[in-house]
Amino acid sequence: MFFSIYGGILPLRVLEEISFWKLQEKEHTTVILQTLEVLEPIYIQELERWHIDLAETEETANDYLRAYASPTNGRIFTLEELDPFIQHCFDQSNQFIIFLAEMINNSIVADIQRFAPIIVDHVIRESRYFVDITQKLIEGEVITFDPLDT
Ligand SMILES: [Fe+2]
Repeated sequence: MFFSIYGGILPLRVLEEISFWKLQEKEHTTVILQTLEVLEPIYIQELERWHIDLAETEETANDYLRAYASPTNGRIFTLEELDPFIQHCFDQSNQFIIFLAEMINNSIVADIQRFAPIIVDHVIRESRYFVDITQKLIEGEVITFDPLDT
C-alpha cells in the first residue's frame, strides 16, 4: 500500500533525508581517498572538491533544519520553497554518480586494486538510493507498514 504519512511535516522529513545522505556522500569521498591509494592526482583533487561541495550542501540542509527547531525564528518552509535546493541536491548526487563511474572506468585504480569497483559501486548505489527514496517521499510513494496487510 502506498501513502504518505508525513502530511505537513513532509518538508522536514525530506530535509532530514538530505542531511543524512549528504553526510554519507561526504564520508564516501573520504573512504575512497583513504582506501584507493593509487588514484591519480586529478581524481584526488576532484574528490577533495566533492568533499567540500557535499559538506556545503549538508550544512545548508542543517541550516534549514535549525530554522525549524528555533523557537523564536522558527520557520516552516514549504516543499515549493525548498524545491530549488532539493533539485540542487538531486543534481549534485547525479553528477557525483557520473564522476565516480567515469573515474572507475578511466583510472588505473580498478586494474591495481581489485576491490576498487566494489567500493565505488557501493557509493554509487547509495547516491542512487538517496535520489530515489527522496523523490518517492516527495511524491508520497513511500511504502509504509500496513497493519491490515499482515
Ligand atoms: Fe555507504
